[in-house]
Amino acid sequence: MGKGKTRYTCQNCGFTSIRWLGQCSDCGKWNSMQEEAVKTTLKSAPGNIAKVCPISDIAREEDYRIPSTLRELDRVLGGGIVPGSLILVGGDPGIGKSTLLLQVAAGLARGAPVLYVSGEESPAQISMRGQRVGALSNNLKVLASRDLMGIEQAVEEVKPKLLVIDSIQTMVHPDISSLPGSVSQIREVGAFFLEIGKDNELPVFLVGHVTKEGQLAGPKLLEHLVDCVLYFEGDQHYSFRIIRCVKNRFGSVNEIGVFQMEEAGLVEVPNPSEIFIAERPRGAPGSAVLTSVEGSRPLLVEVQALVSPTSFGQPQRMSSGVDRRRVSMLLAVLEKKAGMQLGFHDVYVNVAGGLTLSEPAADLSILTAIASSFTSKALPEDVALCGEVGLTGEIRGVPHLGERINEAEKMGFKKFYLPLVARGKVREQGIKLVYVESIGELLNLLF
Ligand code: TYD
Ligand code: MG
Repeated sequence: MGKGKTRYTCQNCGFTSIRWLGQCSDCGKWNSMQEEAVKTTLKSAPGNIAKVCPISDIAREEDYRIPSTLRELDRVLGGGIVPGSLILVGGDPGIGKSTLLLQVAAGLARGAPVLYVSGEESPAQISMRGQRVGALSNNLKVLASRDLMGIEQAVEEVKPKLLVIDSIQTMVHPDISSLPGSVSQIREVGAFFLEIGKDNELPVFLVGHVTKEGQLAGPKLLEHLVDCVLYFEGDQHYSFRIIRCVKNRFGSVNEIGVFQMEEAGLVEVPNPSEIFIAERPRGAPGSAVLTSVEGSRPLLVEVQALVSPTSFGQPQRMSSGVDRRRVSMLLAVLEKKAGMQLGFHDVYVNVAGGLTLSEPAADLSILTAIASSFTSKALPEDVALCGEVGLTGEIRGVPHLGERINEAEKMGFKKFYLPLVARGKVREQGIKLVYVESIGELLNLLF
């Protein structure tokens, strides 16, 4: 190793430079360059040279997956845990990452040894949580350590079928001079576990904290390295927790799994529609239900709106769970195309249950909830709607209508409003389908 050789690494984006820079020339962040010792590159041993071969000659492996014992998690992973895969689980502090992984570890420990490594909690704390979630098992081995060499030894000793690292930000690579959690540490620690996993066919879950901006701390480079990236989301004030997959080398992305945090840990919610519309007010203006599709999963969701005359100053426009700009656009369409004078009204829009809706298919329900509150007329309680609203007030097609309709029917809805362009493309079923072309037509039919 060159004596005293150092380089400067941006702690925000991982950019490296041989000189110190006040501002990173890659991501533009100020004061983010930190000096670190350079690691020598390894020369590959003579026997280690990889061979080139035609793709058709490669022996295919069976698509073997280990059930995680939580069906909602298996669904997100695309059918279970792939041996040797590296899975990153991100999420806000306190959302339940450690709880989830301890439950998975305990589930798998029923059949084989599992190693749970924590750099954040003491064995006593882990055991207390274990007791709460019913995870006390002889096969579940716990190691409170931050030292990679110790973990490597423990893996050799325990020969686990699953390794959990809680969290990557606390682990320390001995060759790296910078602090745990820094970009270089995370990069090397990530690469280390990738190697351990691939060498031993051992699936590894890595817990990662997210920054204030909602990004995984230790930037994108970690996401490039791992096979799957899962985000554990939820509102602190609600017990619902959603696992979302944003990268998956072995399955589809954007799949979600739904859990509820209870006294004894996370409980799966196999039928989320039921809970998200459970507290829906009946016969009250300002509420509309849509079937949102998350990944391939239809989910009934209630959108609420409150429109009231502005009593002072600027009209307020607030929304939670939907994009405020989308709401502004829908308000403009309502004013211009349906003649609703909303300019002197405060408008509040909320998605029940702390969910976030990002798909345009929610437009119709947002608009209807606003119109319903404005006119003080409630929608019939067995009505659901889906459709995108265009700037001329036209109602545009949305994907997955068949699944959306099925879900609404399954949950006892009797009428479904959908875009006219879908006529002939969806199967007529028990639920009554009402095709609408414009918001004028829709509002006439509804109110
Ligand atoms: P935790 O798994 O420690 O979160 P993270 O690892 O993402 O930081 O979860 C902490 C929260 O979960 C804590 O606020 C308490 C709550 N909790 C329960 O409600 N029930 C339980 O059985 C457990 C273990 C935790
Ligand atoms: Mg934790």
